[in-house]
Amino acid sequence: MVDSRSPGGLADYSTWRARDYFETYYSEVVLPDEQAVLAYQIEVMRRAGTRFGRALEYGCGPTLHRAIAASAYAFRIDMADWLADNLVFAREWLRADPVESDWSRFTRFILACEGLPEADRARVIRRESQTRKCVRGLYVSDARWHDPLGEERRGYYDLIVSGFCLDAVSSDRGVWRACMQNVLSMLAPGGTAVIHALHDCTAYKVGEKMFPGAGVTVDAMAESLLECDMARASIDVQVIPCPANSVYGYSGILTASARKHAAP
Ligand SMILES: C[S@@+](CC[C@H](N)C(=O)[O-])C[C@H]1O[C@@H](n2cnc3c(N)ncnc32)[C@H](O)[C@@H]1O
Repeated sequence: MVDSRSPGGLADYSTWRARDYFETYYSEVVLPDEQAVLAYQIEVMRRAGTRFGRALEYGCGPTLHRAIAASAYAFRIDMADWLADNLVFAREWLRADPVESDWSRFTRFILACEGLPEADRARVIRRESQTRKCVRGLYVSDARWHDPLGEERRGYYDLIVSGFCLDAVSSDRGVWRACMQNVLSMLAPGGTAVIHALHDCTAYKVGEKMFPGAGVTVDAMAESLLECDMARASIDVQVIPCPANSVYGYSGILTASARKHAAP
């Protein structure tokens, strides 16, 4: 039998199951840390004061909530992840197939953040259909590649949102920094990035397995954003404590945003 764990006891992504991840983090409630990062993403997009032309959600996993949030602020959204299993899971919802996952409590939370605390079912359905229309491409991509979606997507997107992906690729901080550079190379000059990571986490739990964390800190995130050509004055990095999540391997969430230098 092949041991799919690394010597450090971490699971390899070949053993990842989209449904396990969905069940662990997204099937019951909108967890408090998730409420905080969604509200943060919405605030950054709202403050931009313009509708983004092309948006990318990188490392979406089997989730839709970040795309549902972005769909009111972008004309077109592409989604990418390394694992086809995740994209198949997301596609079921996008096609409104019968075996879809339910994201309506997230949609309700998003609408509440936007000032509609009592959104009814019809309003929720409208936002979800808007998302289904807005999402165009679903791509398999590896953040460790230079040009993770091909050379033609270099400097292409006006908005990149990436939640808990780039720090989850490997426990090696150098790999994380390279992934940040690769993914943010797809941001257009003047474009906006929103990145969430597990704070100072070396392994996080999905089902019974532990997957890697790069142990990202506030300083490391700020330095990396500078390395990725983000304008210093635009960089915001915050830690949201979530001690109840220590059972999952982390007790804080790091959320960051920045704007890339505009073209000279
Ligand atoms: C913790 S999940 C985050 C999923 C989702 N964005 C969320 O916020 O819940 C980490 C994701 O990173 C993806 N991933 C792992 N290695 C990757 C790589 N080398 N390139 C791109 N994505 C990768 C996994 O497939 C998984 O979907």
